[in-house]
Amino acid sequence: MAMGASTVASDAEVRWSSRLAFVLAATGSAVGLGNIWKFPYVTGAYGGSAFVLVYLLCVAGIGLPLLISEVMLGRLGRGSPVHSIGAVARAAGRSGAWSAVGKLGVVAVLMILTFYSVVGGWTLAYIYFAADARFQAAAGASEGTAAAIGALFSGLLADPWALLLWHSLFMLLTVVIVARGVHGGLERATKVLMPGLFLLLLGLVVYAAVTTDRFAETVSYLFKPEWGNLSATAVLVAMGQAFFSLSLGMAIMLAYGSYLPERFNIGRMALTVAGLDTLVALLAGLAIFPLVFAHGLEPGAGPGLVFISLPIAFADMPAGVLVGGLFFLFVFIAAMTSSISMLEPAVEYLVAERGWRRHRAAWLVAGLVWLVGLGPLLSLNLWSEFKVAGKNLFDLLDFVTANLMLPLGGFLIAVFVGWRLSQPMLREALGMSEAAFRAWHLAIRFVTPVGVAAILAYGLT
Ligand code: TRP
Repeated sequence: MAMGASTVASDAEVRWSSRLAFVLAATGSAVGLGNIWKFPYVTGAYGGSAFVLVYLLCVAGIGLPLLISEVMLGRLGRGSPVHSIGAVARAAGRSGAWSAVGKLGVVAVLMILTFYSVVGGWTLAYIYFAADARFQAAAGASEGTAAAIGALFSGLLADPWALLLWHSLFMLLTVVIVARGVHGGLERATKVLMPGLFLLLLGLVVYAAVTTDRFAETVSYLFKPEWGNLSATAVLVAMGQAFFSLSLGMAIMLAYGSYLPERFNIGRMALTVAGLDTLVALLAGLAIFPLVFAHGLEPGAGPGLVFISLPIAFADMPAGVLVGGLFFLFVFIAAMTSSISMLEPAVEYLVAERGWRRHRAAWLVAGLVWLVGLGPLLSLNLWSEFKVAGKNLFDLLDFVTANLMLPLGGFLIAVFVGWRLSQPMLREALGMSEAAFRAWHLAIRFVTPVGVAAILAYGLT
């Protein structure tokens, strides 16, 4: 729709080259450590199926309507997240102060990136461990494979210098790509990555099922409702996980939407992105939990779950060096396509609105994130005694961003889109079928904001 020349950002000519490219890049942002590292570990920590079902409900009732809204706002506003929201608000006769929501999003996402990069560093370390046949070496250890592989992980966390090396390398690779601009590395990386990661995960699911005989147990652990397990905190974390996994921080999907040509159907694309993201998370769960059960690991063991369970399988499968190396390489690339999308909004903001040069903006923001990342990094070892509300800095950052800041941003965007923008404007902006539009509009007005507010209130009391 025509928004007037003043709302069109200077880089409006930059557009996704194809529908596929957008879906791949948006999926590249969504699919990352959230699916493969975080989903299995929070699922285990919060008791399995009931958590998973609340998560799925949140993806459908809160995530999907918000994903559509964010991409739509990006396409309407055609600029950085901060710019887009302000521009759309003013065009609709609303206060430009709504752009503060975009600022909240940009900050929340940078805070996530500080610890995300630390975990991204773990994936780099594990590519090295795999190639160095460390998992195979553990298989011969006197204390047993599982214990030796557990020690490999705890040894990594206990070593601040090793973590620093990998964290720095991860940030460095992210910034190099972002500094080159959005089209360069990003589209190409996702095209190769997505099918590769998907196939490898599928193979691991089959391998775990066949070799452990625990597939049925895993399916019931993940999907058979046991509502008794569900705490208020679990509901909050499940919602936070939906936000985290779908990259709904009020910034990323907006930034990507700003590159989207007019003719693409946002509803269908959002459905594809959310579907693929959920599928990857569930596949990761189905690959990991049979191994967890078969090797007597603790499902609630925490952030190390993926880094301990799968290497046990790599240790004794044929060609484990290759498969393990490839797996962590794919996870690393998935993490990179996500971390790129976390750095991008802040950089886009500085470039488009403050007139910074792209290189300077990228290096400065990345440097800051790297520096702040030393906090969560050191909280895993030297500073592990320092706790707030029982959480170290790493867990605290994760909790506050994913479970509080992202939902707060989501709530505000739902109110803005659902209650401050007119139906005719939205209908034209989305161009969906009437039935789909009605369902979406009902969700974004009622289901999403009420759901988020209720879960926040319930989870925090
Ligand atoms: N969704 C990504 C993952 O699952 C992480 C991520 C990328 C993200 N961009 C985000 C999370 C923005 C929140 C907000 O790994």
